[in-house]
Amino acid sequence: MITNEFWLDRWKAGQIGFHKDDINPKLIEFWPTLAKGSRVLVPLCGKSNDMIWLAEQGYQVTGVELSSLAVVQFLGDNDFTYETHHEGDLKIHTVNDLPLRIVEGDYFHFTETDFDACYDRAAMVAMPDSKRADYVRHTQARLSPSAWVLLIGLHYDGNQQGPPFSVQNDAIRAMWGDRIQKIASENLALTHERYQERGHKVFEESVWRISPLHQ
Ligand SMILES: C[S@@+](CC[C@H](N)C(=O)[O-])C[C@H]1O[C@@H](n2cnc3c(N)ncnc32)[C@H](O)[C@@H]1O
Repeated sequence: MITNEFWLDRWKAGQIGFHKDDINPKLIEFWPTLAKGSRVLVPLCGKSNDMIWLAEQGYQVTGVELSSLAVVQFLGDNDFTYETHHEGDLKIHTVNDLPLRIVEGDYFHFTETDFDACYDRAAMVAMPDSKRADYVRHTQARLSPSAWVLLIGLHYDGNQQGPPFSVQNDAIRAMWGDRIQKIASENLALTHERYQERGHKVFEESVWRISPLHQ
């Protein structure tokens, strides 16, 4: 069972193989150019430096993360100074020198709305089947009707247990709606030996985007 405790334990044990220090190349390649000051939501953000890249582009970035360890490491590793205030059971950490906030708490308790864009890397695929559709609905409810979404999905063969979970293309379309489009994909099993060693012939990482209707 993938519970909140599961994730808190992963952070305590340092089992965070999902974390990459480098900025995700797919973010740099596929992120749309938005107006400066656009509000960008990063659900289940971990301690991803992708948030710093987004903030440096001039967006107002809000990451949401359950684990206080992840938050402390993110703020500490980057030598950020910040202010903290409480809203209900969420702690909001506002970084001083960048337009960046980290909301510490359960994403399903986070109810702000009107974000202009969302960046999902290793968030939807971190959700078990039983919660994934709720995660997508909760995310959609946070976004303005004309919001962009950039999502990195995974689809693999075999009987590996997640996270990350394998999510079929059709399931992504069913949850996110007709406007989501697959804009790139790479079978990592062809290019990275470690996926073959784990028995995969297919380990497809795909990039999906929702563009606003007027684009
Ligand atoms: C696979 S990691 C991905 C982190 C980040 N997106 C990245 O690319 O490195 C999933 C993260 O979601 C967090 N998480 C899981 N369930 C959550 C929830 N209900 N609310 C907030 N964060 C959650 C975990 O603690 C973990 O840091």
